[in-house]
Amino acid sequence: MDDRRRRGHSDASSSQEGDMYAKPIGFINTRNRIYTLLTLGSILCYMYYIFQSSSFHGYRFWVYDDAKQKPVGDTASSTATTVVEVDVTKVISTVYEAAPTASASTFWLANMEHRGVAPYHSDKQYKVFRNVRDYGAKGDGIADDTNAINLAISSGSRCGEGCDSSTISPALVYFPPGRYRVSAPIVAMYYTQLVGNPLDKPVLLAAKSFKGMAVIDTDPYGPYGENWYINQNNFFRGIRNFVIDLTEMDPAEGVGIHHQVAQATSIYNVIFKMHEGAETKQKGIFMDNGSGGFLSSLTFYGGEFGAFFGNQQFTTINLEFHNCKTAIFVNWDWVWLLKSIRIYNCEIGVDITSGGPDKLGVGSVLLLDSYIEDTPTGIRTYRKTDSKPPAGGTLVVQNLQISGVFTTVLGFGDERLIGGNEQGGKTTFTFWGHGRGYSYDIRNGTDINVVADDTQDSIPTALKDAAGKILERPRPLYRHIPAHRFVSVKAHGAIGDGQADDTAAIQQILSAYGNTPPGQEKKIIFFDYGVYRVSQTIYVPPNTYIVGEMWSVIMSSGSAFNDADNPRPVFQVGKPGEEGIVEMYTHDVPLARSFGGSHGTQLQSDHCRKTPDSKVHPGLGIPCIAAFMLLHIGKTASLVMENMWLWTSDHDLDADGHDQISIYTGRGLLCEAETGPVWMYGHAVEHNVLYNYQLVDTKNIFMGVIQTETPYYQSNPRAHEPFPSLSAWQDPDFTASCATEKDKASLCEKSWGLRILNSTDIFAFGAGLYSFFENYDTACIEKRACQQTMVEVQGVRKSSTVSSRSNIWLMGLNTIGTEIMAAWTRADGEVVQVKSADGNRNAFSDTVGLILL
Ligand SMILES: *[C@@H]1O[C@H](CO)[C@@H](O)[C@H](O)[C@H]1NC(C)=O
Ligand SMILES: *[C@@H]1O[C@H](CO)[C@@H](O)[C@H](O)[C@H]1NC(C)=O
Ligand SMILES: *[C@@H]1O[C@H](CO)[C@@H](O)[C@H](O)[C@H]1NC(C)=O
Repeated sequence: MDDRRRRGHSDASSSQEGDMYAKPIGFINTRNRIYTLLTLGSILCYMYYIFQSSSFHGYRFWVYDDAKQKPVGDTASSTATTVVEVDVTKVISTVYEAAPTASASTFWLANMEHRGVAPYHSDKQYKVFRNVRDYGAKGDGIADDTNAINLAISSGSRCGEGCDSSTISPALVYFPPGRYRVSAPIVAMYYTQLVGNPLDKPVLLAAKSFKGMAVIDTDPYGPYGENWYINQNNFFRGIRNFVIDLTEMDPAEGVGIHHQVAQATSIYNVIFKMHEGAETKQKGIFMDNGSGGFLSSLTFYGGEFGAFFGNQQFTTINLEFHNCKTAIFVNWDWVWLLKSIRIYNCEIGVDITSGGPDKLGVGSVLLLDSYIEDTPTGIRTYRKTDSKPPAGGTLVVQNLQISGVFTTVLGFGDERLIGGNEQGGKTTFTFWGHGRGYSYDIRNGTDINVVADDTQDSIPTALKDAAGKILERPRPLYRHIPAHRFVSVKAHGAIGDGQADDTAAIQQILSAYGNTPPGQEKKIIFFDYGVYRVSQTIYVPPNTYIVGEMWSVIMSSGSAFNDADNPRPVFQVGKPGEEGIVEMYTHDVPLARSFGGSHGTQLQSDHCRKTPDSKVHPGLGIPCIAAFMLLHIGKTASLVMENMWLWTSDHDLDADGHDQISIYTGRGLLCEAETGPVWMYGHAVEHNVLYNYQLVDTKNIFMGVIQTETPYYQSNPRAHEPFPSLSAWQDPDFTASCATEKDKASLCEKSWGLRILNSTDIFAFGAGLYSFFENYDTACIEKRACQQTMVEVQGVRKSSTVSSRSNIWLMGLNTIGTEIMAAWTRADGEVVQVKSADGNRNAFSDTVGLILL
């Protein structure tokens, strides 16, 4: 085991890291005087672009001058341009740079001047960047650094106990290399990023005397069991580049990270060291609940549970486990993607037995591209024909390799559902599932394996890497690039105070330091934390690299974005005819785009407070309309996105009370990429009027996990308001399609969670599509009467990978509050409906293992 440990203790992902990652930046348009926030999100979101000529539609947003006025605009001739074309695989293979040797002392983040300022904070001395050494932490392995680290986090007026949420007090807390001994939790307050030096990861060493929930606690419990932050609203936090060591503690206690979080959060590049052996009760991660989320590139040694997981939905990638009793215990969930999991020498790999066979706590789990070695039990489940709830414990296994696993899937009563192999053997399971499946011809549902029995190689190579796994990209740290190649926008004339017009300064910086010809040393344009107001479209040339500090904000304002006949994007990435790559991401955590609901947007609760008792919607007459669309992936686009959250706010993050608000965005994500490929990892689109995801004439799309929520106000107003259906954009026409529903029309007129038109080769490994409300009332959930239908598939175009079908795989499909989970139209015109009541009830959600069309 020792050689393994040594191997794993080296920097977990250095060999995988390239410098070349791209991040999307949002495109929003607002009417005059409305400031919409665009958050330069973080590292987790990559987009690769090569710009090409004219066929591309671009990003477009309409803004209404008046609620009653229809939007005007056309589709073909708009100057609202942008984007995208790429053969990503080609780009990626040429894009990795050999990692130059760099020493920890050269890490760019530690070596640059820190100019980021939180403009809305009342304390003008407030510091965004904090180095724990400046607050007294020694990092010498001897001194107790608990208080110093917590002082570094909490100093200045921050969002701690009793605050719930705030977007005005960010803190990036940096840990130089060292061994930081702690005796009580490091409390990661709201809007905090804890960042270690990735070139020599700091060790957080739990003292023998350690008392408390976990070495890092993202959501402390008070004495009466009450949380500091509401778990489903615990946004905006990142933890990365650490070693957390629990081995000095008593083996009977100790947790690395208490991670009770929601969207826009991440843990990345962390090693957990725990006691091994029979006595250990330690846990690397303890996640009790929340609404996440994404984490990746973690390594666990020892522990009773490497990771103890519980959350509504989550995406977890590139996790490695050694010598744990149970590597992964899923305590509860609706849907969970485990991708690229490597488990060595544990007793149990993945355990989903929580709750027992009569009350299965795990809704669904998808295990993809994974490996289990020298572990007696690969997966342990209690799902059986009569277990409850009927859809509980739904499991999809794709491309699992085992070696030295005695039982691959162990069922209730130690029944060996799938056997194993000898030490040193190699067996690969292409597909195996536990749950119900449907297909074009199997309309009543049956065993998922019957539906999927012809699944060999149905995933197109376009979506895979050279090793045959679905391609994924470790997030870039730019760790080998020295500080002098980072160009601070504040040092080059941008103000970032939320007042000044930074358009000219930002444009000049992008023109001067973007567009690095291939082969030359690129500059990284660094958006120091701030709120950058722009009044014109910003043009981003190809071969440009942009990083934000935490969630730097680009705020659009002014009349240029107010012309409904001529909608413009905030960012225009490339021009027709151009080719190249653009990387855009922010420094840590996910790209989160917050539309309304945060300070500075003027879309807060003063104007847009919910009005469920009124049929007149004052929000439509004042600035509560945020955007035409959140993200448009054009015909020639190919991109990788990771940990992306496209959120039209449902509540106010800053004002006291955090009231629910009604904000109107027409469309969520539209993907028209003709050949893709497009990857969406840990992806969410929420609260948009017509749809959250719409895929049109597209192929080679990977989605896992995607998550949506229908706007809470619908059906007051219904989905045909306030955005008219535009056929040029292939909008759903609710007025027409729901006309025959009569008294059910209001449930029919709800935003689609996922709409797939004339598309092939779509792979959803986990989709949580939720409708929690009818006009702000949750009474409909239990009766599945918040929404009539959630997923629509239209068109019978055949795949070029598997010619007999469209090759659309919806796996681990979870809906809430919805009567018809998915519907599709057959060539003969028959509409097939998969209903929650057709044996697909799960605990809180409803679950289908597979729909294969
Ligand atoms: C979250 O999980 C904890 C620990 O299991 C539990 O005590 C708490 O009640 C849960 N909170 C919610 C809101 O479900
Ligand atoms: C599907 O179920 C319905 C209702 O239970 C039944 O009438 C029908 O015959 C079934 N169809 C098939 C193909 O089994
Ligand atoms: C379906 O998509 C294909 C490929 O993009 C396209 O050629 C065809 O015109 C589309 N068909 C319809 C009916 O939109």
